[in-house]
Amino acid sequence: MAHSSSRPQTLPPLRHLLVVGGGGREQALAWALRRCNDVEAVWVTPGNGGTEELDGCRSLAIAEQDAEGLIKACQQQAIDLVVIGPEAPLAAGVADRLRDAGLAVFGPSANGAQLEASKAWAKDLMREAGIPTAGHWAVASASEGLELLEKLQRPLVVKADGLAAGKGVTVADNTEQTASAIREAFAGRFGAAGERLVLEERLQGPEVSVFALCDGERMVLLPPAQDHKRLLEGDLGPNTGGMGAYAPAPLLDRAGLEQVRELVLEPTLRALQNKGIQYRGVIYAGLMLTAEGPQVIEFNCRFGDPECQTLMPLMGPELARVLQACALGCLDLAPELSVAQTCSACVVAAAEGYPETPRKGDVIDLQSDPDDQRQLFHAGTRREQDGRVVTTGGRVLTQVAQAADFDRAFDSAYAGLKLVRFDGMQYRRDIGHQVRRA
Ligand code: AMP
Ligand code: GLY
Repeated sequence: MAHSSSRPQTLPPLRHLLVVGGGGREQALAWALRRCNDVEAVWVTPGNGGTEELDGCRSLAIAEQDAEGLIKACQQQAIDLVVIGPEAPLAAGVADRLRDAGLAVFGPSANGAQLEASKAWAKDLMREAGIPTAGHWAVASASEGLELLEKLQRPLVVKADGLAAGKGVTVADNTEQTASAIREAFAGRFGAAGERLVLEERLQGPEVSVFALCDGERMVLLPPAQDHKRLLEGDLGPNTGGMGAYAPAPLLDRAGLEQVRELVLEPTLRALQNKGIQYRGVIYAGLMLTAEGPQVIEFNCRFGDPECQTLMPLMGPELARVLQACALGCLDLAPELSVAQTCSACVVAAAEGYPETPRKGDVIDLQSDPDDQRQLFHAGTRREQDGRVVTTGGRVLTQVAQAADFDRAFDSAYAGLKLVRFDGMQYRRDIGHQVRRA
């Protein structure tokens, strides 16, 4: 097993990887990492109905927060690098436990994961470090929130402080909506996540996601990606985890991305360092491009889903080495990450009733045949004993495709989805409307 405590002189061997998680994001990570130089096998815990279909990938039935189970599996399979996908195990300190056991882990400590797990903590860090973000107030009771609203007399964005699976935010159009969101949160709508709220000034502008792979001191940026958070076409309906994505998002050109590095990501990593946090994982900055420049809407401590599925096919075969070097605190030893100069499109197929009450148990008819330029990543699926693949709810599949331009990439992704069927399947036909001409 690799020792992560001291900085190595050269990168150790990297043959066996373990990816923690079972969504589309982890499926895409496993697929991309398996294609990397020297990587022989990738285990995914717990994985999903598509994991074993991926060449060189195996699933293991271990829950994502079962640190003891994960450590044992890593010993048995001689794992050289663990990549933790979702936020919940990170916030629960699974990366710390694995590192304490001597494993090389890509994913921040519980301290670092507060960037996502506590919005108030992240806002304080941004304020201290001078990172551009909406003005905010943290409040601990309904009366405190309502008093503030009374004083300000303008609508505010209401955010549950803790992890609320992407559902803890109300963007209010008027003060009545702000007031009822405050009351509902303190009446228990988000459970413990809503015991404290962050109230924010409302910003305007297009949104874009930027991902920085960090080794605690240094970082590599991935191409910017555009998510589609709303359930319905025309960007209407409830917020979801994300119904589709594309990359690279032309909203941020090379100079724009450099500006985000200087104004947002590097100051964030420095601020974490100043708190004694060695952040080895992804910083995901959800940005709004306002008239005053980029502003941080939120930080996450992991890859976006489905942005990750969109980005992974663009990554060169150095990716695994880059993540390993981040895990070991020596990004300067990693080969340069090459990125394909093509357009990548991604459309999510969700279960009926998603996001409120997704139905489960429908058999999926899969005729699709992935190729070099088209990938179908499973998410909410399970393979039955008899070989049938059934839905397990939520976001079921992500169809991804690459081409020289976005029109062709989306045509290919939508053609791929035509080869998949399950009862209640729903997807947006207008993903990428910002960049498609057709
Ligand atoms: P979050 O969970 O923090 O990403 O928020 C979910 C969505 O709410 C974001 O993607 C934005 O569309 C919107 N949002 C969050 N904060 C603000 C803000 N300060 N101003 C305007 N919209 C916001
Ligand atoms: N796609 C947004 C997220 O992963 O939070």
